[in-house]
Amino acid sequence: MAKIRAMKAPKSVHVCQQCGHEETKWLGRCPACQEWNSLVEQFAEVAMPRPSSSGVAVGEGPQSITSVVEIHGTRLVAGIGELDRVLGGGLVAGSAVLLGGDPGVGKSTLLIQALAGLCASGTVLYATGEESVAQTAMRARRVGAARDAISIVAETDVEKILAHAIAARPAVLAVDSIQTVYTPALDSIPGSLAQVRECASRLVQFAKTTGTPVVIVGHVTKDGGLAGPKTLEHLVDAVLQLEGDGGPYRILRAHKNRFGSTQEIGVFEMVGAGMAEVTNPSAHLLAERAIGAPGSVVVASADGARPLLVEIQALVAPAVATFGRRTAAGVDSNRVALLLAVLAQRAACDVLDRDVFVNVAGGIRLAEPAIDLGIACAIASSARGRAIDARTVMFGEVGLAGEIRAVTLCEQRLAEAARLGFERAILPAQNAKRISDRSGLELIAVDRLQTAIGYL
Ligand code: TYD
Ligand code: MG
Repeated sequence: MAKIRAMKAPKSVHVCQQCGHEETKWLGRCPACQEWNSLVEQFAEVAMPRPSSSGVAVGEGPQSITSVVEIHGTRLVAGIGELDRVLGGGLVAGSAVLLGGDPGVGKSTLLIQALAGLCASGTVLYATGEESVAQTAMRARRVGAARDAISIVAETDVEKILAHAIAARPAVLAVDSIQTVYTPALDSIPGSLAQVRECASRLVQFAKTTGTPVVIVGHVTKDGGLAGPKTLEHLVDAVLQLEGDGGPYRILRAHKNRFGSTQEIGVFEMVGAGMAEVTNPSAHLLAERAIGAPGSVVVASADGARPLLVEIQALVAPAVATFGRRTAAGVDSNRVALLLAVLAQRAACDVLDRDVFVNVAGGIRLAEPAIDLGIACAIASSARGRAIDARTVMFGEVGLAGEIRAVTLCEQRLAEAARLGFERAILPAQNAKRISDRSGLELIAVDRLQTAIGYL
């Protein structure tokens, strides 16, 4: 406790990034070198010996690695399978987890639901700077997550949050969000780079020194980075990102995880009562499939290590302008443009002068090259007005020469397709050569896009 108090009021200075001149107050222009906007707030070195920002340096000497005692043995579980799995089996003592995502994607909702499970291990402390205590409590009740053991405080001063945490010794500390908290030791406004970095570093240090897991919520800026920069990602042990693409589904992904795999994903659906786990996402995503419609194809995708069967839809229509327009939702539009060129040049399916729409059903985003074949076949199917057999799945990367290239996780994709009742798979010939397949599917190995289209 004394340690944290002692660090309470470090002095800050404003250092010119151009000439190194120091000012106590922020000025628009450096009085020494006359450069505009060059002063950046920093802590004065003399005010305080700077703690290690990661909080792991404890001043012990070198020791044999085998003699180091394992302290991360027990994990606190939230009781939400899709979340616990992405965490690597639950929250590790003393770890700091950043939960990122666009505003409105469901971070606070998932957090309160997780706390409802985590509070089985003791009181948890939820510091909110985004919403009032009343709003948070109302939401907790609505999603069935109101528990006596969840202690909530509306506070944005990180020093006060830490003081509450030191007094209450919670099993978990949650801060929602890092953009709203500030330390009075810095003059800059909450949400500024200096504030975000310093507050996160204080919270991480609290986690390391007390062994309390800390969950920090952070918004994603428009360019996709977690606001308050990459440095924030370096500070924490795990970065979980909650993603949604307009639809009801949300994918939770670990971009970084010191205590687990970054290959795991969690799938949720935002419903009236909060975030519902989707334990069988393929079945959900295919539930409303347009069977027998041209332009619809099921791809066996793999997100992380998890096979996911998803419907890709394409619609090729006469151009409304003098040139063909492309609209892609859920897939990269540059990839669609590339596939249209390959279709035209290598597979005798030229729709370059028409309007092309590509959509991933369910509003999820697919980013792996194995969906190329599916996109290309969906476009070809729509262009020719011929439906693809509803019991066929496909996967494969398409190269610029029109060749079909091998992909990873072939067996897992086939197994998932068999589980959902599919009967045929169109797959890269290179994959078919190497696999030991026990799925029972009829396998159609293809090495060229044109051959694949011939099977439709
Ligand atoms: P929220 O968790 O507040 O998002 P974030 O913290 O990431 O900004 O979720 C906000 C959205 O979720 C809001 O638009 C309403 C919707 N929502 C539901 O659909 N069902 C619910 O039970 C809850 C709590 C929210
Ligand atoms: Mg929120």
